[in-house]
Amino acid sequence: MLQLQRPAVELIPSYEAFMLAMKALGEEAWEPLLRRKGESDRDMAERFLRAETAPEPGLVPETFHWAVNEQNAVVGRIALRHHLIPALQEFGGHIGYEVHPASRRQGVASFMLADLLKTAKAREIGKLLLTCDPMNIGSVKTIEKNGGRLEQIRFVERVKRDTCYYWIEVC
Ligand SMILES: CC(C)(COP(=O)(O)OP(=O)(O)OC[C@H]1O[C@@H](n2cnc3c(N)ncnc32)[C@H](O)[C@@H]1OP(=O)(O)O)[C@@H](O)C(=O)NCCC(=O)NCCS
Repeated sequence: MLQLQRPAVELIPSYEAFMLAMKALGEEAWEPLLRRKGESDRDMAERFLRAETAPEPGLVPETFHWAVNEQNAVVGRIALRHHLIPALQEFGGHIGYEVHPASRRQGVASFMLADLLKTAKAREIGKLLLTCDPMNIGSVKTIEKNGGRLEQIRFVERVKRDTCYYWIEVC
């Protein structure tokens, strides 16, 4: 059984192994999600929790959650951004997620998004924008099975990618 949990110091080694597994495949790992020079496990967990109330310059407040399995391993991550700025409106939206390469196609992303939509913050925001590459079938299906309504698909010059714009209304 999976559980959505907030970042915690004891989960950092498992979380970091997940990030490194993605990096090893050449997948994008956004710098703020990785360990910084000299940062301890505690510093890292605290930084992720602080993102909710005291984000770093240029970032909007966001709540981080990790999907943790029965073995207490972090198999996925999902973050809810509390509001949009023009850059996120264009690409990124309210929600970002990734699943450990070894745990894909087992329902982890679908579970994380469904559970995230039940949180008080998601309900407070009410209408959530999700963007994804139309070729990312796993992401398209995850969004659509969680109520995503496709508004448009367009090319975004900044990231040089075709991008789907989905909205999920939380009720
Ligand atoms: C996209 C991603 C999050 C999907 O995670 P996941 O846990 O494998 O997704 P799920 O297991 O919940 O799958 C959801 C649906 O998509 C399907 N699916 C998942 N990956 C797929 C793939 N590569 N090809 C075809 N279908 C796929 C599943 O079979 C499932 O279909 P179903 O609802 O008909 O059963 C994961 O592949 C990933 O982390 N990719 C790299 C980062 C990324 O792309 N993040 C999203 C950015 S928008």
